[in-house]
Amino acid sequence: MSQAAKAPLRIAVIPGDGIGQEVVPEGVRVLDRLAELSGGAFSFAYEEFPWGCQYYQQTGRMIDEAALETLKQFDAIYFGAVGWPGVPDHVSLWGLRLAICQGFDQYVNVRPVQLLPGVESPLRDATRENIDWVVVRENSEGEYAGIGGRNLTGRGRGKEVAIQAGLFTEEGCERVIRYAFNLALTRKRKKVTSVTKSNAQQYGMVLWDEVFRRVSLEFPGVETEQWLVDAMAARFVLRPETLEVVVASNLFADILSDLGSALAGSLGIAASANLDPERRYPSMFEPVHGSAPDIAGKGIANPIAAVWSAALMLEHLGLPGEAATIMAAIEAVTATGQLTPDLGGTCTTREVGDAILAALAEPGRQAQPVPAR
Ligand code: NAI
Ligand code: MG
Repeated sequence: MSQAAKAPLRIAVIPGDGIGQEVVPEGVRVLDRLAELSGGAFSFAYEEFPWGCQYYQQTGRMIDEAALETLKQFDAIYFGAVGWPGVPDHVSLWGLRLAICQGFDQYVNVRPVQLLPGVESPLRDATRENIDWVVVRENSEGEYAGIGGRNLTGRGRGKEVAIQAGLFTEEGCERVIRYAFNLALTRKRKKVTSVTKSNAQQYGMVLWDEVFRRVSLEFPGVETEQWLVDAMAARFVLRPETLEVVVASNLFADILSDLGSALAGSLGIAASANLDPERRYPSMFEPVHGSAPDIAGKGIANPIAAVWSAALMLEHLGLPGEAATIMAAIEAVTATGQLTPDLGGTCTTREVGDAILAALAEPGRQAQPVPAR
């Protein structure tokens, strides 16, 4: 370290509801430990926000009115989960997660699917080599555009009509597909599989397919495939070794990535990054899972998804070495069988957090944080 401590990286922390409150603190502990080990090369300044369903019940809003203005000041957002019985799920999801993702145009949602050592997959022939791919989810439009309505109640009871439209723009398709191709260039196998249902969805998804073919011409070194989503669901299970980067619309990739994380052992290890690749706004890092009311408060939620999401955050903040250190620590812990019940173990959230902290090796390298955005 050649100079006085650099300005801390500013992290907005939103634990949210349920197990979000239990797993996010474990991620923060890991970040703090890494900062400590860096000897001042980097540090974090957190501000925690109490947004979520309880906040909604007190204020009628899921997030503060000025939330986006406030969050703009941060280098990144670290989020747990949202949703709690008593508040309709569409209210909590739109009021918090989607408000931030769409408000900050975080148009890429990256969701790695990777089998960790010591973790058992429900697939008979699973290995660390064949369960290793990334789902790239379009995160700003598609089926989650929020366009529609249900106002035709004048027709009388039992005759209401609702419309839920999908929005597919050429620019929206192009930017996420291009991201997927660029990501493929960094992977061991240069391959992108696009997933739609363009036989039945003849407008938006046919546009997606056309854009995919056009963008693919810019990447002659990348192998491409176009699959229908139903067949792809089967292929996730039957031929996982053929997958590398899978790019799909908002809804399809959401569903496929839960399937992927189940194949990798548990939803409790699935991490994600909601990215604004242009860095106009802060990006948001969160476990794929929700608030898990069925296990909330028991102290047994798996913190790995949240800790892994913190690693994705460090990668985005220009600390790839530290991100790799976190991943190595997670793998060291799963390899020795220190697992929460979702993975067949008996450890608590805190015990797995403690084990990850203990496994964080001295980074022993010059950390070089870049300006976050
Ligand atoms: P969920 O992901 O909360 O739970 C599904 C199942 O996986 C449950 O059995 C749960 O116990 C288990 N699970 C999830 N995370 C786990 C972890 N870290 N460790 C161990 N087991 C874990 O999905 P569900 O039940 O459909 O939704 C619950 C609430 O979460 C709803 O209100 C929903 O709207 C919300 N939700 C929020 C999301 C977000 O904030 N990004 C994403 C998905 C759901
Ligand atoms: Mg989901």
